[in-house]
Amino acid sequence: MIKEWTIKELLEVTKKYFIQKKVSEPRLSSELLLADILDLKRLDLYLKFDKLVSENELCKYRNFVKERIKGVPIQYLINRAEFFGLSFNINDKVLIPRPETEFIVEKSIDFLKARKGGTLIDIGTGCGAIGIASSYYVDDVEVIFSDISKDAVDITKENAERLLGVNRKYSFNTGNLFEGIKVKGDIITANLPYLNREQMENLQLEVTYEPGFALEGGEDGLDIIKVFIDSIGDYINKKGEVIIEFDDSGKEILESYINEKGLENTFYKDYNNLYRYCIINF
Ligand SMILES: C[S@@+](CC[C@H](N)C(=O)[O-])C[C@H]1O[C@@H](n2cnc3c(N)ncnc32)[C@H](O)[C@@H]1O
Repeated sequence: MIKEWTIKELLEVTKKYFIQKKVSEPRLSSELLLADILDLKRLDLYLKFDKLVSENELCKYRNFVKERIKGVPIQYLINRAEFFGLSFNINDKVLIPRPETEFIVEKSIDFLKARKGGTLIDIGTGCGAIGIASSYYVDDVEVIFSDISKDAVDITKENAERLLGVNRKYSFNTGNLFEGIKVKGDIITANLPYLNREQMENLQLEVTYEPGFALEGGEDGLDIIKVFIDSIGDYINKKGEVIIEFDDSGKEILESYINEKGLENTFYKDYNNLYRYCIINF
């Protein structure tokens, strides 16, 4: 007779297997994957511990487990990522939004609330995480989502329509940095690729599944960010704010670059005490 599995048994056996295979967050991984297949919220698994999993569900789960062991990030398996309390559709054509990027959203929300709305341009929008989260929590915000990748803009469209609905103003642009953008923003956010050459050569296994063009910033990680800074003056309104994410290793170079242009700037550290954000005020 074929063994039948309850949710509880499956989670326990998978957790052990993931530990043996050195998969990060073994229990959480098994819960998220099974919850997705059973179409349940993760915590609801605990209310249904004794439920039997069907043969079909088991087959899908086994495939997920196999992929997870190879290093495929959970978010790419379940095609979903949580960011700033919202659930974003994603696929392997876009970067998985990171918790550290939530700082940009916090600052952007503060800025937009203080001026009771405004226009936000999100450059390198990926799945739309920064622009959508900023506009979700503040009224009267118009967002222009832009990315060089059409696949990213397509996913952003899905997310914006689902999460922001029809009552918010937003539009989409595909182009290199500001190419195709015809308006100025009160705030511009940019989490552009910023890993340097050495970091690109030493990526963690899971990160190798993410698109290189979303990560790679050239020799010092600042190739794209510098070109972006060269253009911001043409796209920002008076009293506007530009928020950039970058890697700590490039801080000195970036700071001199911005200072040479005479731009007013403040640098911020992340929760690992590393410089990661710069705000430029106009
Ligand atoms: C690090 S990901 C960030 C995605 C998203 N903003 C987030 O925080 O999750 C960088 C994004 O910049 C886009 N990108 C790369 N080069 C670009 C360029 N020259 N112009 C516009 N977007 C670019 C990539 O396609 C990718 O979606």
